[in-house]
Amino acid sequence: MTAAESVAFLWGATTGAHQTEGNNTMSDWWQRETSPGSPLPSPSGDAADSYHRWREDMDLVADSGLTDYRFGIEWARIEPADGFISLAEVDHYRRMVAGAFERGLRPMPTLFHFTVPAWFAASGGWHRDDAVPRFLRYVEAILPVLSDGVERVETINEPNIYAVLASSSRPGDGSLSRGLPVPDPQLSAKMIAAHDAVRDFLRDRLPQIQSGWGISVQDYQAAEGAEDVFHDYVWPRDEVFLEASKGDDWVGIQTYTRGVIGKVDGLPQPLINDRSPVTQTGWEDYPRALGGALKRAADVLGGVPLIVTENGIATDDDERRIAFTEAALQSLWEAKADGVNVAGYFHWSLLDNYEWGTFGPRFGLVSVDRVTFQRTAKPSLAWLGAKAKERLDEH
Ligand code: BGC
Repeated sequence: MTAAESVAFLWGATTGAHQTEGNNTMSDWWQRETSPGSPLPSPSGDAADSYHRWREDMDLVADSGLTDYRFGIEWARIEPADGFISLAEVDHYRRMVAGAFERGLRPMPTLFHFTVPAWFAASGGWHRDDAVPRFLRYVEAILPVLSDGVERVETINEPNIYAVLASSSRPGDGSLSRGLPVPDPQLSAKMIAAHDAVRDFLRDRLPQIQSGWGISVQDYQAAEGAEDVFHDYVWPRDEVFLEASKGDDWVGIQTYTRGVIGKVDGLPQPLINDRSPVTQTGWEDYPRALGGALKRAADVLGGVPLIVTENGIATDDDERRIAFTEAALQSLWEAKADGVNVAGYFHWSLLDNYEWGTFGPRFGLVSVDRVTFQRTAKPSLAWLGAKAKERLDEH
């Protein structure tokens, strides 16, 4: 049994740096949002002001009964100008890690969640020849944050969606269930190289850390008669990333919906199911996608521990959020009973936040007043915390 398997199930909530911190002014996304004629409906602005209010966020997680908190470290803050490492920002994230432990929470930092420093993007971004070593320099700069007792690190959030962004407008635009474009193969390869490099670097420098990345894995299902082309559809979209994770300590699974893949003119094509209810992001409301995604991932990964690092629903109806999560968790327990090695569940998201161009879709267990930034827990937060307590007591 590996160390990751022997710990208690992880019960957490998740946020992402750019989506909650606010004023991430040195990042490429900020530039995109604020440039004249930006196609993005709304800039992130102050977002949820978590940069200042992270203590309140962590209090909410800890008080609910959840035991784990996944949040982002922002490269654009750590290295706002090429070669300048802000020690003050390194200290900021050290305080966050210490703050999590003070509240009895296990912190899981994410090192890259769609945003990079503006200077890096302007000079070619991940297409630069030295992109991976430059990313590693940032990771080296934050070793003091990670060495303060952190047990798990998510190196990269959804490398496959990031590689799709090159050919699509923004995440959350409904494309997950209308058919995901093919990720850019060059960027996919770069993401895999970056993840491998960080994993190896952390194994060398901080061997106590278990690293993984969070892959967007939806419950793709083959329609009757499309079985022979199904693999062609899933391979570039997520399976190539799962395959690349076989040597990882754990693999993060980030699931929201399903996609039924049919065959049209001999080619795989998503079938649109117009009868099912959709969520605020336009995705089919299909909570059992979680179990399906876990099983498909386990078919590739065997016994490598899987951690659900994102799962949730965009809705204003919190009862619907609870029902969705209940059904998603039920499908997770069934997958576990079938032998899938699931080591944890993190809900997306702790907060209503910035959804890459809009504040419209609300995924939060907690709402945030857009003017005062006051947090108000929705009933789903206490509900999920109680689930965690119940299950942890059972084991
Ligand atoms: C991303 C989040 C996003 C969420 C819901 C995932 O693609 O990691 O940044 O907010 O899904 O759209």
